[in-house]
Amino acid sequence: MDQAEALRRKVQRLRAANTRVVAVLSGKGGVGKSIFSVNFALALNRIGKKTILVDLDIGMGNVDILLGLHAPGHFVDMLNRRLPIESLIVQHRSGLSVISGGSGLDDLFKIDEGDFQHFLEQFKKLQHAYDVILFDMGAGLDEAALRFISAVHEVILVTTPEPTALADAYAAIKLIHAKVGDVPVRCVINRYDNEREAKEAWKNLSYTAKRFLNKELKLLGELPRDHTVVRSVKARSPFVTDAPHSKIAIGVQRLAAGYLNENTEGHAASLDSFINKLKHFFLSKG
Ligand SMILES: Nc1ncnc2c1ncn2[C@@H]1O[C@H](COP(=O)(O)OP(=O)(O)OP(=O)(O)O)[C@@H](O)[C@H]1O
Ligand SMILES: [Mg+2]
Repeated sequence: MDQAEALRRKVQRLRAANTRVVAVLSGKGGVGKSIFSVNFALALNRIGKKTILVDLDIGMGNVDILLGLHAPGHFVDMLNRRLPIESLIVQHRSGLSVISGGSGLDDLFKIDEGDFQHFLEQFKKLQHAYDVILFDMGAGLDEAALRFISAVHEVILVTTPEPTALADAYAAIKLIHAKVGDVPVRCVINRYDNEREAKEAWKNLSYTAKRFLNKELKLLGELPRDHTVVRSVKARSPFVTDAPHSKIAIGVQRLAAGYLNENTEGHAASLDSFINKLKHFFLSKG
């Protein structure tokens, strides 16, 4: 029995009412959040962790393009037109579920209470259907994004090793630390040119967060610069399914397996807790 099969069995045993809600974000834009989100979601799904990817990148959502999908509706339609959540979900041929963005998060805290209630009810339907709900957020953190992050179970922060991206990543961590508190933050160092550079970047970022914020970051993983990524964007075909033997696909799959191993035991994370927190932040707005 291969390792993947063993992992799949483990997942099946552990699938319960738990649904982890994860926000993927960055300080600087263009560091690879959407590429990472799409392929990480595919990798989780592939090892049996049923995942839905929700594109929350305001006005610039592109998850459907990266997956070569045609979105039947957008997240914002659910908010504005009170559509059922099922009508927005599109399935990638791998089995991954996706909801496209359109525009999103900004609207979420501006809608009236009736529409918000509808949104929460729709979201509750995902409880028994998915192990992980992954939100691809936009770059930077405005008020709405911070409110939203206050409700999620964890954050994945993507950065490149460039000093500018690292500075913005640190600024984002600082903001989260000040406004959200102690949500777990895992980091991805993406698009490194050599391993030493990636290690150095992680060392600096984790040291600075510990030293000045007393915040313990976790390293989710490091991913190399790989031309496969550019090819896969152009072909609208994600590398985890369409170039599974490329260096980058192997990297993302390894990272997903590591994530799963760390996250399966002893971490109760219910969708209810996310929904209740979101409700709290909605009602206390303004
Ligand atoms: N590991 C990598 N190797 C090579 N190129 C990469 C890698 N990761 C990302 N890229 C390149 O960076 C571009 C931007 O990636 P992506 O759209 O995922 O960034 P983003 O952080 O979601 O951007 P935005 O802030 O605009 O949402 C991709 O189109 C791709 O060309
Ligand atoms: Mg993006």
